[in-house]
Amino acid sequence: MLEYDMISLERGTLMIFETHAHYDDEAFDIDRDELLNSLYDNGIEYVVNISSAFDTAEKTLELMEKYPFIYGAMGIHPDNTKDFNEENFRWLKEKARHPKTVAIGEIGLDYYWDSTDRLVQKEWFARQMDLARELKLPMVIHSRDAANDTIEMMKEAKAEEIGGIIHCFGYGVEQAKLYLNKGFYLGIGGVVTFKNGRKLKEVVEYAPLSQLVLETDCPYLSPVPYRGKRNSSLYLPYIVEEIARIKNVDYNTVVQATSENAKKLYKIDDKR
Ligand code: NI
Repeated sequence: MLEYDMISLERGTLMIFETHAHYDDEAFDIDRDELLNSLYDNGIEYVVNISSAFDTAEKTLELMEKYPFIYGAMGIHPDNTKDFNEENFRWLKEKARHPKTVAIGEIGLDYYWDSTDRLVQKEWFARQMDLARELKLPMVIHSRDAANDTIEMMKEAKAEEIGGIIHCFGYGVEQAKLYLNKGFYLGIGGVVTFKNGRKLKEVVEYAPLSQLVLETDCPYLSPVPYRGKRNSSLYLPYIVEEIARIKNVDYNTVVQATSENAKKLYKIDDKR
């Protein structure tokens, strides 16, 4: 196992925690190192890189091993479960034991694209929830146009005992209540800054700050004023500003609460 050069990051200064990024994406091939090396000086303390397929899990491992401030989530996105098999799952299980793996994700159900048979999606969602339970890791859940089935499966798996983040939360307040009551965090990203993001703004207003975390889902979903451009963790301050405006609290309150939430959930301080 590799030794990590755990640089001693300053404690106590207010820094942002990026809970959901895809820096393995080819959109970052031209300037990945330069960009990642600039994050700390721009107020981003930690990044969790989220895998979504077998190959992105491999790239996530490389990033975790190269950068002290990058941690990883191991998992297969519902859209990609059609290409998944037992051999890949054995590999994934092994990598999920890596000391810098902090979550199982992103896993879940996606009926929007519907590119994979729903039964196949469900099978791998259930098995990856079992894996999270076995390894005592939180889950990063992706759920799109699949609200009822997601809640149903989470009930069956007693997901509230495992915990995690509902990433890129896209449902309304009524659904948010169900997840919040199970102790889950909601991942809030660029959509909250969109003019047509009213539903998410209502959710942010309703949810306690103690259950919100910041995420970009970069390279996707850039906040206004960069909507449509490549996203990165550098744009998280726009999301902080909007959450602060909606909840009528100051900027630092949002940074501090969301960072504490993320560190607690991902057990980052325990791993340093
Ligand atoms: Ni994602």
